[in-house]
Amino acid sequence: MTKKTSKPNDQQDERVHVSLDQPVVEYEEGSKAFFENVAADYHKSMYNPFWKLSQSLIFHLMDDYIVLPNLGKGKQYLDAGGGTGRLTWHILETDKTAKVTLFDFSPDMLAQAENIGRELGLLDRVKLVEGNLMDMKGIKTHAFDAAVSANNVFGFVYDSSLAMEEISRTTKLGSMIGLFGIPNAYHGAFFNQTIGRYDESRKILETLRGTYTPEMPEINFFTPDGLFNLYLSSGIRPYLVTGMPVTIYPGYADTDPRFVSDKAQTIADPQVWNNVFELERGLLDSTARIDGVYQVQAARGNGLAAIGKREILVPY
Ligand SMILES: C[S@@+](CC[C@H](N)C(=O)[O-])C[C@H]1O[C@@H](n2cnc3c(N)ncnc32)[C@H](O)[C@@H]1O
Repeated sequence: MTKKTSKPNDQQDERVHVSLDQPVVEYEEGSKAFFENVAADYHKSMYNPFWKLSQSLIFHLMDDYIVLPNLGKGKQYLDAGGGTGRLTWHILETDKTAKVTLFDFSPDMLAQAENIGRELGLLDRVKLVEGNLMDMKGIKTHAFDAAVSANNVFGFVYDSSLAMEEISRTTKLGSMIGLFGIPNAYHGAFFNQTIGRYDESRKILETLRGTYTPEMPEINFFTPDGLFNLYLSSGIRPYLVTGMPVTIYPGYADTDPRFVSDKAQTIADPQVWNNVFELERGLLDSTARIDGVYQVQAARGNGLAAIGKREILVPY
């Protein structure tokens, strides 16, 4: 892959853009075809108690570190790989002064996002942009005050370093950057063992690439320290790397947005769900706040999460 160069000013048109070679094109075609298939059903996963739990924990962390400290200040957010806009709608509903650029390479997910945004009456504060996170041409340097991304986006991006450099370039100094629901290599290996895919389990640990199920495209997996270093090498000082949920995991059926596994069904009762949410939130709150130290619970998380601050460590 040809690496791009970034200029330390707003002249993004002068940048040399990434040219994608064949393996990248094939990898991305697999992801796009997958999202073309799931786009119409994607929102249904929110009726799944496990994904509802996972999303509520993501909102909790994102609000605490990013949205609430910026409340009422008319900030510009990037929702990287925003899909149908879960994070976007939450930000816009929480902060009536915020604006969000929802950036995604799947036209099918963006079409769903547009429908949902219209129904919610929030389209006037969102810009839907179709493009590749590895080369965000058209987005100016230092355009955003904060960037967020959730639910496997960095698994699907072929080269996470390029995407992180682009997030770094397009955010202002001092911006908070949160990545949530990053595929955890240890959990990927565990999950594959539980469904009898021992070779896949080994492959994930050895190569940090693999699949959760035979139906899903190949993705990248991360270790907590790998995620920590991804931040650092892109000029973003990591505040925390953690994992969630850590006391309950999804089953096979939960990998398809139309279904709910027996495991997820165990927390369907609102009282039980609430107890599990409080337990998980307590774990996040009690362990996630020590600057720069990644947390013991990270390796146990179904997904990893990291929050950091854009600093002058690289010359964007
Ligand atoms: C599992 S979805 C998550 C969507 C949303 N963030 C959420 O939390 O519901 C992953 C999204 O990442 C997008 N994506 C994957 N690779 C991408 C890339 N290289 N550039 C832009 N978007 C990408 C996909 O199109 C998809 O919408």
